[in-house]
Amino acid sequence: MKRIQAGIIALTISAAASAATTPGGIAVEHLGVNNTLVRVDGEGRYLILPVQESNDDANVNILVDGQLDRTLRVRLAKSKVDYTVPFDLTPYAGHEVVLNIVTTQGRSSVREAKDDVCWRNIALADTFDTSNRERYRPLYHHTPQYGWMNDPNGMFYRDGVWHLYYQYNPYGSKWENLSWGHSSSTDLVHWTPQPVALEPTGLGLVFSGSCALDTANTAGFGPEAVLGMYTSAGVSQVQSLVWSTDGGTTFNFFPGNPVLTLESEARDPNMFWDEANGRWVMLLAHALDREMLVFTSPDMKTWELQSSFGKGVGCQDGVWECPDLFPLSVEGTDEQKWVLVCNINPGGPFGGSATQYFVGDFDGRIFTADTDSTGAVPTKWMDYGKDHYATVSWSDAPSGRRTLIGWMSNWQYAAEVPTMQYRSANTLPREAALFRGPDGQLYLQSAPSPELTALRGDVVASVRGTGIGSRAKTYSLPRTNDGACEIVFDIDSRSARVVDILLSNAAGEKVAMTYDVSSHTLSFDRRESGNVTFSEEFPAVTVAPTFETDGRISLRIFVDRSSIEVFGDDGRFVMTNIVFPENPYTTLSLSADGGRARVENLKIYSIRQ
Ligand code: FRU
Repeated sequence: MKRIQAGIIALTISAAASAATTPGGIAVEHLGVNNTLVRVDGEGRYLILPVQESNDDANVNILVDGQLDRTLRVRLAKSKVDYTVPFDLTPYAGHEVVLNIVTTQGRSSVREAKDDVCWRNIALADTFDTSNRERYRPLYHHTPQYGWMNDPNGMFYRDGVWHLYYQYNPYGSKWENLSWGHSSSTDLVHWTPQPVALEPTGLGLVFSGSCALDTANTAGFGPEAVLGMYTSAGVSQVQSLVWSTDGGTTFNFFPGNPVLTLESEARDPNMFWDEANGRWVMLLAHALDREMLVFTSPDMKTWELQSSFGKGVGCQDGVWECPDLFPLSVEGTDEQKWVLVCNINPGGPFGGSATQYFVGDFDGRIFTADTDSTGAVPTKWMDYGKDHYATVSWSDAPSGRRTLIGWMSNWQYAAEVPTMQYRSANTLPREAALFRGPDGQLYLQSAPSPELTALRGDVVASVRGTGIGSRAKTYSLPRTNDGACEIVFDIDSRSARVVDILLSNAAGEKVAMTYDVSSHTLSFDRRESGNVTFSEEFPAVTVAPTFETDGRISLRIFVDRSSIEVFGDDGRFVMTNIVFPENPYTTLSLSADGGRARVENLKIYSIRQ
């Protein structure tokens, strides 16, 4: 009798499980402990997926008319919904869509698996709300509307439009489902979100890469074609060619892909047209070998290895990633040199990710780095903050400009920063130039792009010149825009030993910068800048050489809610650091120690949107 009853109960449970249906045209059917079918029966443009960040990724297999179309990795919510992400059903109109979901979190029974809150919160909707929910979202830096972002990719300029692609997870705010997100701008500061441009293929995820215009029609896709090269990252990392004939909105996948394979990890192809030799040049990061490989091609489809650069040179403490190579003329001369950009992670001067570069010559095949007076190749950093990585330049930029942009975070804590709707912003765009430092070496200058001055709104403080000593002079920062402003001033250190520059709020949160005259450095201390507890690697002091010899520096400080970029002497030294104050900084304090200094041409601007 007992045995029969047990059987009846078991039957009842499985019948109830398969009949479970959420309202709104979605049927949820639990097949097993970690396996659930979600059948889309109703109407709606998006399937809204509930995410819980602390959960493991579930494999969401999208079946279209019974066939596997693709697999997403989504941290489906178990006990609470942190946010939702949309899966666009438009491409599947008229077809039957079923999600065969495999969750990895081991439940002991189907009954337990049924309790996950995601099943009650999956929904169909015609719209997805992208309005900002994050107080730390910058006002004038590029961010994705939602989801995770890392490296900038494939930037090119055409017909007045700057295109910016980026490593993107459209299904969560942690690294996964790597695709190329896309935004465009006519002024490098206001960005318009565009549809995702590249999604994972059968060869793997869409890792970093570059784009260039093919006006000579070398690849045969037409003179209007935009060519792209990126790393398909599956079990192996191989290089794929794509092209666009609609100006970079959608891309076609070259059927002969991969066009380049190596036996070891190689990624982030960065190519450009070499006018002098009439062929394409591509740099590829031979990541674990810590070198950059140089390839050439007549048509982007067949590539020949020409040389490698970097073995044992520069900083070798991490993997080499995201290369770039471009010519620049030396300030005030006709001399042309080449700059090879090498992003490295970890191994940065203050831990984690950073961008090193080499100045030298390139003959179309081989890059040769300049050496210092001891005959060694010096290590040089493009930015002396902790949050400047994967920086590369736009191709085909107008008026001979070499404009760069970076990812404003660090692999040490990028996935832990206290935002959820989106994660990470880009740096401000910067204009590259070469200058000769006091040691006779050539250095890369990264000046704020000229478009940024159009952001200047009201002048909330203006001081022509003032002496400063040990008692701080204070100036209020703009109250508009919740912590976004630009601060400019010149320092003449005169008899002072150090000049202190403090940004602070009433809660005692502060960023302390110090210009140390005798060591020719500017330091940036964010240890008490606000929320610093989400990662042990976050509290830090970063230090930049100022390259000046006369005790005078000029600073442009861009504050944008959760970031501070300090450009010294028009970008001869730069520090980019993110911060998370509980409330915006309200006050700038300036003081000097060991003597009196002078501050000149101080202006604090609010930001015009
Ligand atoms: C650099 C990087 C690249 C890679 C991409 C993957 O941050 O590791 O080397 O292509 O991120 O998202």
